[in-house]
Amino acid sequence: MQSTNDKNAPSKIDVILGLQWGDEGKGKIVDYLATGYDIVARFQGGPNAGHTLKFDGQKYVLHTVPSGIFRAHLINLIGNGVVLDPVVFARELKSLEDSNVSFKERLLVSRKAHLILPTHRWLDAASEAQKGKAKIGSTLKGIGPTYMDKTGRNGLRVGDIESPNFREQYNSLKAKHLQLLKIYPEITFDLETEEQRWFESLNALRELQFVNSEYYINDALRAGKRVLAEGAQGAMLDVDFGTYPFVTSSSTITAGVCTGLGVAPQTIGRVIGITKAYCTRVGGGPFPSEQDNEIGEKLRQEGFEFGSTTGRARRCGWIDLPQLKYTLLLTGTTDICMTKIDVLNSFAKISVATKYRYNGLEHTELPHDLCTTEVEAVYEEFEGWQSSLDHATTYDALPAAAQKYLRFLEEYLGVPITMISTGPEREKLIV
Ligand code: GDP
Ligand code: IMO
Ligand code: MG
Repeated sequence: MQSTNDKNAPSKIDVILGLQWGDEGKGKIVDYLATGYDIVARFQGGPNAGHTLKFDGQKYVLHTVPSGIFRAHLINLIGNGVVLDPVVFARELKSLEDSNVSFKERLLVSRKAHLILPTHRWLDAASEAQKGKAKIGSTLKGIGPTYMDKTGRNGLRVGDIESPNFREQYNSLKAKHLQLLKIYPEITFDLETEEQRWFESLNALRELQFVNSEYYINDALRAGKRVLAEGAQGAMLDVDFGTYPFVTSSSTITAGVCTGLGVAPQTIGRVIGITKAYCTRVGGGPFPSEQDNEIGEKLRQEGFEFGSTTGRARRCGWIDLPQLKYTLLLTGTTDICMTKIDVLNSFAKISVATKYRYNGLEHTELPHDLCTTEVEAVYEEFEGWQSSLDHATTYDALPAAAQKYLRFLEEYLGVPITMISTGPEREKLIV
């Protein structure tokens, strides 16, 4: 699957990212494809992500650690674009240890990745409380405030841990946060306990190798190593192009690979965009094809649509082609991977949003602001296949109705669907 190169040209980076509002199944696909690579690198996001992997009868959920970690000998890199909470991270490492996964020599962390402080999490809670009904529905992991400190030029980075002034730097940022938190007396916290836990957790981080990841990745590419970049969230949660302000605080599109790993645009190879066979979103914000009814409930039950990070019920609806066409454009997706097609197995009819109606007309493009424009999705209906896909290991073995559904989507989107996932387990994939 990886990009092929001229003999002496540097390798290209292939990318896996979500084309919807997150939870498309990125973790499963990264884990599956990782065997064809030498390095898997996360380029943005933080512990707001929850990437689920299932194999050998076990389920694993990763938040900060790249999804290549279960493939022995593969290097996993946490890039500069990631924000890292030492407490969540230490917990993740502990659970890898408990599962007998060796990672110490294979998990590298960029010195330029930013640190999430306990106070960042409380600022996140304060920001949401202040928004009231208009709250984003953040995972409350401190993502927004940490990226704010990054762009505000106040942040602490992984490399700072090595500095003799680290405590002072920490105290100075903490003091700034505590001043801000005074405005929100309703946000209560146990600073001493949380701070102690945070500093203890840094020890787990210190055991890993810190790298100047921009050099590391570019050297690896020059040496012909095969690199897979793993995205978190989805393109509709991108800070620039998503349903702003109901977005996350990082660049979730292919451009984020360049800034989140320190590589030039011409190093990007294939871009594998992942979409579910339907659509979900967790948290607030517009969702034109949402089915807030028994159809949505059936999708939620069949797809077990509950958040991997927060456990919240995910909002569910039909696949939305104007939305996907938009994120294919933003990401330069070369291959589509469709996951969770098995969730539609028992539906007699399957709908597909093919247009939007707004301002009295039908459109295939998104309005400039989905939050302030009243949009109605226009659907086309397809026959369901009403059978299990368990034994379908090739495209030709899929029921005719499923093939018809896929062909229609592929023609509309104009990008080949090269992978179809038929279950959560590692091996349930038609390539
Ligand atoms: P990610 O954040 O994009 O990695 O996705 P999540 O792990 O948050 O959510 C995807 C969920 O769907 C997880 O529970 C996966 O185990 C599950 N999953 C992935 N692919 C498939 C599939 O093809 N079929 C079904 N039924 N479940 C899947
Ligand atoms: P993965 O990588 C789904 C959503 C939150 C909220 C908004 C902002 O598992 O696909 P934040 O915590 O970033 O301040 O939340 O973004 N969100 C996700 N939704 N999957 C994710 O990650 C998400 N990460 C954040 O629910 O609406
Ligand atoms: Mg997830």
